[in-house]
Amino acid sequence: MDQECRRRLTVRPCHADNFEPAARETIQYIEEKRLPQMPVRLDGREQAARDRSLNDFPKIHHSQYTVSLVKILGIETSCDETAAAVVEDGKRLLSSVVASSMDLHVPYGGVVPEIAARSHIEVILPVIHQALDEAACTWDDIDAIAVTYGAGLGGSLLVGVMTARTLAIALNKPLYAINHVEGHVYANFLTETVLPGYTLRAAPPQFPMLAIIVSGGHSQLALFRDHFDYTLLGQTQDDAIGEAFDKVAKMLGLPYPGGPSVEKAAQAGKPIYTLPKAKMPGYDFSFSGIKTAVLRLAQAEIGESYDFPSTKLPERLSEAQKANIAASFQRVAIETIVDKANRACEEFQPKSVVIAGGVAASAELRRQLTEALLLPIEFPDLKLCTDNGAMIATLGGFKAMRNQPAADPYSLAVEPDLSM
Ligand code: KG4
Ligand code: ZN
Repeated sequence: MDQECRRRLTVRPCHADNFEPAARETIQYIEEKRLPQMPVRLDGREQAARDRSLNDFPKIHHSQYTVSLVKILGIETSCDETAAAVVEDGKRLLSSVVASSMDLHVPYGGVVPEIAARSHIEVILPVIHQALDEAACTWDDIDAIAVTYGAGLGGSLLVGVMTARTLAIALNKPLYAINHVEGHVYANFLTETVLPGYTLRAAPPQFPMLAIIVSGGHSQLALFRDHFDYTLLGQTQDDAIGEAFDKVAKMLGLPYPGGPSVEKAAQAGKPIYTLPKAKMPGYDFSFSGIKTAVLRLAQAEIGESYDFPSTKLPERLSEAQKANIAASFQRVAIETIVDKANRACEEFQPKSVVIAGGVAASAELRRQLTEALLLPIEFPDLKLCTDNGAMIATLGGFKAMRNQPAADPYSLAVEPDLSM
């Protein structure tokens, strides 16, 4: 992407007043450089954009699609993954492309928001094109666009939302604003694909459905009575479980992202240490205490006191100590989630349980849940646990098929702190 376009995309604030000029420039860029097949001429669009009100945007009506198919392009840029996918009828995965800037963040031990946002700008259009190509779709085949508008990093979200708004306006497609966390849950509704390497469940989960949402930013239990009808049973009051994995990994000198590296280190160790489980009311969680407990444990293991800096721990701990600490932390952190999920199953008697979010990739979580729950549980494909566009397109599909309101492409704003 050239410097000029980068400047245009990064400096425009995302307000309705500023959007039209920014959108026109972006559309022009897209037409010139990347999307020669775009049907509308810029001059005509200027007039059209002025005249058009939200009501003029096409709406998808459920009845219209009882026989035909709904193809949604999903766009996800909430953190360090730039992802796009095409999903048909909220269940059939036609393509899924994920470009991660993770490698660029490794030297810093965590995601650097500015680097993530810049990477999104560089790759978002190629990623969208690849998703369309792999799905053998042209823009004409796409019925609507779904995009994550929160929660996440402001700058990262902005790139996805601005791109989606621009495309929705330029191509005259409905735009669905997707809550990232709800999106994670919908990875479980994918049941068919022609793509190699995916293991999907045979049938969608049944309602009432207990969703265990465990990611880098969230730890929540939600009870879904139906699509778009759920109650949040509880959530973390401080750190998310994925965040705790990431911070513990840092203390042990293990590479970012922490979840997979703690999991790998734990395989060589045993959970020999006792770590405390936070006692939180109801279905709430807390993961800041266990993080401090790991720090104190590591300091004690090398014979140092509480003021020994955590940054110096990795060079003093032996590989065996690191592996045992990783195994002990992983077991207790996951147990905290599984205990409450089990309790929720007893109280609410759901017909299905699903796991969602990056930590849903954890083999320890899957092992403990299989052992603890009376209900049989099916797990999402590992590729659908961490951030991806497929989950966004799936939820977008249900929104389209069930006549949920579309967003205004002229004013949709990012909501970094969006909750469920
Ligand atoms: O859902 P996600 O990709 O991004 C957010 O929405 O936060 O989740 C990322 C989180 C990170 O904290 C990462 O360490 C964790 O998921 N994670 C894991 C595993 N794979 C990823 N945690 C535990 N075990 C894993 N195998
Ligand atoms: Zn996520």
